[in-house]
Amino acid sequence: MTRAIIIREHGGPDVLRVEDLEVGPPGPGQIKIRNRAVGLNFIDVYQRTGLYKVPLPFVAGNEGAGEVMAVGAGVSEFEAGDRIAYQGPVGAYADERLLPAGKAVKLPDGIGFDTAAAALLKGNTAFYLLHWTHAVKPGDVLLIHAAAGGTGQILTQWAAALGAIVIGTAGSEEKCEVIRRNGAALAVNYKTGDFVAEVRAFTEGRGVDVVYDGVGAATFEPSLDCLRPRGLMVSFGNASGPVSLPRLGILADKGSLFVTRPTSGAYFPDAVSLRTGAEALFDAIAAGKLNIDIGGRFPLVEAPAAHRALESRSTSGSTLLIP
Ligand SMILES: NC(=O)c1ccc[n+]([C@@H]2O[C@H](COP(=O)([O-])OP(=O)(O)OC[C@H]3O[C@@H](n4cnc5c(N)ncnc54)[C@H](OP(=O)(O)O)[C@@H]3O)[C@@H](O)[C@H]2O)c1
Repeated sequence: MTRAIIIREHGGPDVLRVEDLEVGPPGPGQIKIRNRAVGLNFIDVYQRTGLYKVPLPFVAGNEGAGEVMAVGAGVSEFEAGDRIAYQGPVGAYADERLLPAGKAVKLPDGIGFDTAAAALLKGNTAFYLLHWTHAVKPGDVLLIHAAAGGTGQILTQWAAALGAIVIGTAGSEEKCEVIRRNGAALAVNYKTGDFVAEVRAFTEGRGVDVVYDGVGAATFEPSLDCLRPRGLMVSFGNASGPVSLPRLGILADKGSLFVTRPTSGAYFPDAVSLRTGAEALFDAIAAGKLNIDIGGRFPLVEAPAAHRALESRSTSGSTLLIP
């Protein structure tokens, strides 16, 4: 038996309940994993509330790191004892779990379980957003919202390492200080300041090349006013609520803008793409380009408290659940 955090109905953090589960041996193409650290992600909240659809009941969580306990028939790339990390599908909030082998990556010697569970999903997201959604070049000017968050800190550091000029937003002065330390040229407290006016002033009226927005409803429309003509709006999340495009013509009015709504699933459809991102991520960590900030740790059974912290905007960097 293993302990797991199960969601049987949608709702607030209290629907995350601890139960004992029989995991069983891995089936064909699967590996069995002992989780050593589990990454907390905002997608876990969307799945808990029902904004993102996952059939009920399900074990929560999309990211973790640990050891391979056993491999199923047809799995040749892993063996018992291997240190791995993974992202998706759900089932990470547990001491042990089964996983399709193609969702796992081997950990290099220098990468510990905590760092891997704090970095893989968020870092792979930063990788595809900065290399594949838009190939960032030195001198590109980027606006990154929630830049002190888990994904935001990795995005900011990696963009700066690629030579971009980063403007980051966050909801407190302490978080703005983190953004500046991570290499941003400007940090704006969007709770107290007008980020559109600050971006316009900083870019001398030109606007930014790309906006990376994981905040959603609260920031989407004003962000369009931060873009240069033919700039790109990357709406990759909805921490403040989902976005709806008011009317297509708004993109014409604001300068022939481009908008995309990317997902990890579309950018990492197979093991090859996933491992391409992970290799770049682990290399960037090893090279000292990325510092993975673990802002908080909760015992696995305190998952409801971890969700409350994430949703109340009191976390900074990545948060871990420890089995
Ligand atoms: N599309 C993809 O492939 C993909 C993959 C990974 C993550 N994401 C998205 O990226 C975003 C960040 O994810 P994360 O896991 O790294 O979370 P996170 O950034 O660590 O936490 C979310 C942050 O959003 C900000 N925020 C602004 N308004 C908020 C509100 N009303 N409620 C809660 N938070 C609010 C808060 O920072 P401030 O206090 O500084 O405002 C908060 O700390 C999420 O939208 C997530 O869904 C997308």
